[in-house]
Amino acid sequence: MPGRLQHRSALITGAGSGIGLESSILFASEGANVLLVDINIEAAQKGAAIITQRYPNVKAIAAKADVGKEEDVKSVVDKAVKEFGRLDVMFNNAGIMHPADDNALNTEERIWDLTMQINLKGVWWGCKYAILAMRENPVDEAKGLHKGGSIINTASFVASMGAATPQLAYTASKGAVLAMSRELAMVHAREGIRVNSISPGPLKTPLLMDFLNTQEKRDRRLVHLPMGRFGEAVEVAKGALFLATDESSYMTGFDFKVDGGLSSCYVTPVGEPALSPPASLIS
Ligand SMILES: NC(=O)c1ccc[n+]([C@@H]2O[C@H](COP(=O)([O-])OP(=O)(O)OC[C@H]3O[C@@H](n4cnc5c(N)ncnc54)[C@H](O)[C@@H]3O)[C@@H](O)[C@H]2O)c1
Repeated sequence: MPGRLQHRSALITGAGSGIGLESSILFASEGANVLLVDINIEAAQKGAAIITQRYPNVKAIAAKADVGKEEDVKSVVDKAVKEFGRLDVMFNNAGIMHPADDNALNTEERIWDLTMQINLKGVWWGCKYAILAMRENPVDEAKGLHKGGSIINTASFVASMGAATPQLAYTASKGAVLAMSRELAMVHAREGIRVNSISPGPLKTPLLMDFLNTQEKRDRRLVHLPMGRFGEAVEVAKGALFLATDESSYMTGFDFKVDGGLSSCYVTPVGEPALSPPASLIS
């Protein structure tokens, strides 16, 4: 059976860990050639090696970039087009949550600027160079390949919900990602370029778990999660895969929440969580 991303190519940022890594592996399993981009090149290379071993029929290449630098972002988009001949999917996923990010009074301007540089400007530049590349995608009707493509930007549940455990710069950056994605979706809707955001709930990835480094901090969040557990990166990657493929062809300007029900919750249920993440998803 042909993969859902057969003949397509994808660039994924933050591909060395968490959502980016799981998405890289998943997209490759569906036939995509993948450029794994990360500031941590060793992590991206490990990811590319896993893919090459599991899915030798696709190309998986690692590249180093700091998405907070425009020239880095341009250079990896150029690399994807050079290596694969096209760019169908751009997943602007890299982001940081700085330990010194706090409330309006305590957050230093340098923390604010760094967070915006990576989480917001990085996504803007990723969109900018992906749009330019996607406009030039060669058409091959027989293979179902067309101009345009799918851009997915990782926002967060905090783009839509407030927390009394503040990380003001992070929250503001993610709110801006949400608004920017919606507007870009409108601007480019008639070019065959779809732009959607994905808003994960709290996940068991290094980004959050390094921050929630005590059981007390984790419990402070867990009580608010309807399912009673943190999400897994692969559960978000499954959502990203849907947005990446033509299966979501009539979706643009959408914020896809993969949050265990968090954003719909007023009063949480009590009791132990009945279900763990499906074993088939967790390797
Ligand atoms: N983990 C959560 O609970 C959660 C919730 C909502 C949203 N998110 C968002 O999901 C995205 C991925 O997070 P994750 O949980 O998979 O985190 P993660 O820490 O597991 O992975 C993030 C990756 O991004 C890379 N990275 C960091 N700065 C970079 C830069 N300047 N340039 C290139 N790469 C860089 C890191 O090296 C790392 O490999 C982030 O945008 C994050 O804000 C995460």
